[in-house]
Amino acid sequence: MQHTIKVNDTAFQVHTDGAGSPLVLVHGFPMDHHMWDSVVPMLAQQHTVITPDLRGFGGSGGFCEIATMERFADDLVAILDQMDITEPITFAGLSMGGYIGWQMWKRHADRLARLILLDTRAAGDDEIQARARRVNAEGVLENGMSGVPAAMLPKLLSEATREHRPDVVAMLTEIILRQDPRGVAAAQRGMAQRADVTAWLSEIDLPVLVLCGEADSISPVAEMRGFANQLPEGQFVVIPAAGHMPPVENPAATSDAILAFCQGLPA
Ligand code: MLT
Repeated sequence: MQHTIKVNDTAFQVHTDGAGSPLVLVHGFPMDHHMWDSVVPMLAQQHTVITPDLRGFGGSGGFCEIATMERFADDLVAILDQMDITEPITFAGLSMGGYIGWQMWKRHADRLARLILLDTRAAGDDEIQARARRVNAEGVLENGMSGVPAAMLPKLLSEATREHRPDVVAMLTEIILRQDPRGVAAAQRGMAQRADVTAWLSEIDLPVLVLCGEADSISPVAEMRGFANQLPEGQFVVIPAAGHMPPVENPAATSDAILAFCQGLPA
């Protein structure tokens, strides 16, 4: 079901499916809630699955100069408030969604039952990476989104997915092309200044599932295993046959891991 949730003067588009304890799926960059389409049917058999479009993405408004990870997290809590969801949620965020997940814990830990971090990083950007993001932000504002899929897909998808899954390539291309450059630029600037959360890891005292595609080149297995090991209640799972986008490249294994973790079983 599609909802338009008004928070102050911003209209957010949010979808809900299924019934059960709330599971919020937060998309990566530069995408919208459709990146979860292949896993929602399985997850919705056991959960109320809530898939928002973040500020400036998909069907949501709220364009701004710099969309910080803190602001995205505060938006999500305001959306939950508007939807009268007071029960602690399972938060699952992929990549940029994971950066927002760290801020959910820092700023709104009382709203969390557990955390799922897919293909994301705890480290912040160095100066070179941050500068590249600011240049990219100007680039999309000037030239639009048409060059973005070709630049990003080799990093987002494994080589095998790119060679053998034209449906996945087409689906992600479509999602990326329909994003508004203003939202994309604001998120790039926000990610450029995001916190390095490595020092927080040992304090995150709730169950955390860290999930990584075996061929992820943006947040590789060794790096993700490294920070998962520092989480007091962390579990680490490698998803086979996937790069940076396990929910679209291997939805069955991704859903199985999420459902098992939410039931308190080893993922
Ligand atoms: C994402 O998938 O959200 C991006 O890879 C995040 C990033 O650019 O760091």
